[in-house]
Amino acid sequence: MDLADELRWGGELTLTRHDPDTGTFFVIRVDSIRLGQAAGGTRAAQYASHRHALADAARLAGAMSLKLAVSNLPMGGGKSVIALPVPRQDLDEATWARILRLHAENIDRLCGTYWTGPDVNTNSADMDTLSETTDFVFGRSIGRGGAGSSALNTAAGVFEAIKATAQFRGLGELGDLTVLVQGFGEVGAHLAKRTLQTGARVLVADVDDERAQWARELGCRIIPPAAVTTTSCDVFVPCAMGSVIDSSIARQLPARAVVGAANNVLADTDAGSVLHNRGIAYAPDFVANAGGALHLVGHEVLQWDADTVARHTKGIGDTLIQVYEISAAQGISTDEAARILASRRTDAPESLAV
Ligand code: NAI
Ligand code: PHE
Repeated sequence: MDLADELRWGGELTLTRHDPDTGTFFVIRVDSIRLGQAAGGTRAAQYASHRHALADAARLAGAMSLKLAVSNLPMGGGKSVIALPVPRQDLDEATWARILRLHAENIDRLCGTYWTGPDVNTNSADMDTLSETTDFVFGRSIGRGGAGSSALNTAAGVFEAIKATAQFRGLGELGDLTVLVQGFGEVGAHLAKRTLQTGARVLVADVDDERAQWARELGCRIIPPAAVTTTSCDVFVPCAMGSVIDSSIARQLPARAVVGAANNVLADTDAGSVLHNRGIAYAPDFVANAGGALHLVGHEVLQWDADTVARHTKGIGDTLIQVYEISAAQGISTDEAARILASRRTDAPESLAV
């Protein structure tokens, strides 16, 4: 995001802070509060520059607005990025605790305009730590009164999205398909296990050799991380980081469908149209991965019980089919179709049946 893009950003609010003691740059971006206070996780990662961190936070916050709207959840979209000076695993405990305290102070200054939760490199234990300084935190551990990790329910929602895609697009029985999971982390591991149970052939790639080994022991076939977009499969399931598919990769991707958890899978605006024109079913990430938001906002804001969260999570398949229908009827990419559905819901939010 250059200065011109930054000035064009249509979001509501940006908070930044630099901590010279640890070399950490903090960003909170609120994309929209049209449907309510903003919600979105805290991502801790290394970035090439502060500009890259700001741009990532803006894109991720935008995806949250779309996700919450399309899921009929009464919250707006936001996101935090903590740009670390070194990889997360290289930070000692005291430094990480300081970083979390400063981040919590930043959140608290927004007085509830923005609620955080877990994302890449943050978990329920970190949410517990944040909650010592601020109340505006989802996903604390269950013992501390929170809803706990959202990963299992995110995987459940992606699984529904894969089933709906296979059914609607006539890919065949899930158990007969080859499913390629990129990233055997919190979400990817749950999803791979569940997919294996159907009898499907599951390929896994992870940059972390230990995690790949664990996947192998469960019965997955391991492929090199660099081969994820050149290995033939029926369903490609990105569960690592975003920007996996740009237009040139979309032109040759040897898959029949893309259905994953990673936020912002498409690297550029044309990639969705290229997939559409090639007849590859693309489940927009902000539809397919809404299980985490349904879990956190459902339990902690709407006071849903587990059955109600599960029912809404199953509904991800129905929402996705609506997206595929709009795409087919209007001859537009599924990404565009999902944005239309999200904007309809933002303009006329449905009342939430509990
Ligand atoms: P995680 O950090 O537990 O897992 C990510 C995995 O991907 C790790 O095992 C990592 O080693 C691997 N990885 C990283 N780069 C890779 C690469 N280039 N190739 C192959 N593997 C790579 O994260 P988690 O929680 O499983 O989330 C995965 C994605 O889903 C993220 O993009 C996250 O934003 C998104 N997401 C997660 C939700 C949740 O509830 N945890 C909810 C919605 C979206
Ligand atoms: N970070 C997850 C996501 O991208 C889970 C989350 C949802 C965190 C809502 C906070 C609020 O969906």
